[in-house]
Amino acid sequence: MSQSPQPGPSIDTLIAEAGRGLELPIRTANPPVVRASTVLFDTLAQAAEAGRGTAAGERHASTYGTVGTQTTFALVDALAAIEGQGHDCRAALMPSGLAAISTALLGFLSPGDHMLMTDSVYGPARVLAQGMLARLGVRTTFFDPGIDADGLAGLVRPETKVLYLESPGSYTFELQDVPALAALARSRGIVSMIDNAWASPMFARPFDWGIDISILPLTKYWSGHADLLMGAVVARTEVWPRLWEAVRQLGMCVGGDDAWLVLRGLRTVGVRMRAHQENALAVARWLERQPGVARVLHPALPGHPGHELWRRDFTGASGLFSFEIAG
Ligand SMILES: Cc1ncc(COP(=O)(O)O)c(C=O)c1O
Repeated sequence: MSQSPQPGPSIDTLIAEAGRGLELPIRTANPPVVRASTVLFDTLAQAAEAGRGTAAGERHASTYGTVGTQTTFALVDALAAIEGQGHDCRAALMPSGLAAISTALLGFLSPGDHMLMTDSVYGPARVLAQGMLARLGVRTTFFDPGIDADGLAGLVRPETKVLYLESPGSYTFELQDVPALAALARSRGIVSMIDNAWASPMFARPFDWGIDISILPLTKYWSGHADLLMGAVVARTEVWPRLWEAVRQLGMCVGGDDAWLVLRGLRTVGVRMRAHQENALAVARWLERQPGVARVLHPALPGHPGHELWRRDFTGASGLFSFEIAG
């Protein structure tokens, strides 16, 4: 069942304004770049207070550069607001999208646990499940992305801890009934995660679908200029403490320069995504008419098997699709 957020500003307004809540000496549209390892305090009491905030993953509390600076705090605030879209969420930064996937999974899985993962998952996430996670004693069942909630219920085991989705799937673009699968996970106490690379915040609202954790490869649409690598995990506040523990224990962090570039890039994600949508659809429709093309796999085309789900759950389409060459 999908979940209603607090009413709030439109996605375009959020993108323009999010992350500006920090108290800085001079108010600027984006914060300055802060490069820091050591953090200075005037008194021991201030340092102790920051230490308590750091341990809890509180916004704007830092004792060391790995925990955060004004630049990364502005970015995590922006990501939580834009991806959360009215839901109470927190965000953490990782050095790549794949690091965001591995941190989220390591945070919620232990030896003996079981994970349900869509078969159409991003390749390196499958390698992680079958490699390091398997070595650590985590078992994974890959399921048909077209599965319904009853089918998924049949795969749940007592030790199932994580449901991992990606819709549309990588390379083959199958759509999933995410609200139904997320509702099943919640009813069984399973943490649901989704890789939201394809849609960006413009066209999907994973937390309205009932998802607990959204994984964002910021490398792609969010930053938008192919000049940096970064990922983020956005989590409902209920599951945040466990995620923050993993972030801290694994030492996941990013530098101020890249964080600032993502903040700058994301301000234009709305206009870029609308252009991606228009251009990709024009190319996809042209490909459909070519005799050498057997099939175009684009969810926004009426012939796509997941088209009705796409219309129900998404507000647009990004620039990524695939096609099969005849023969
Ligand atoms: C669906 C998906 N998830 C995650 C990633 C990983 O992002 P990064 O390249 O930042 O590690 C990618 C990268 O191509 C991707 O396509």
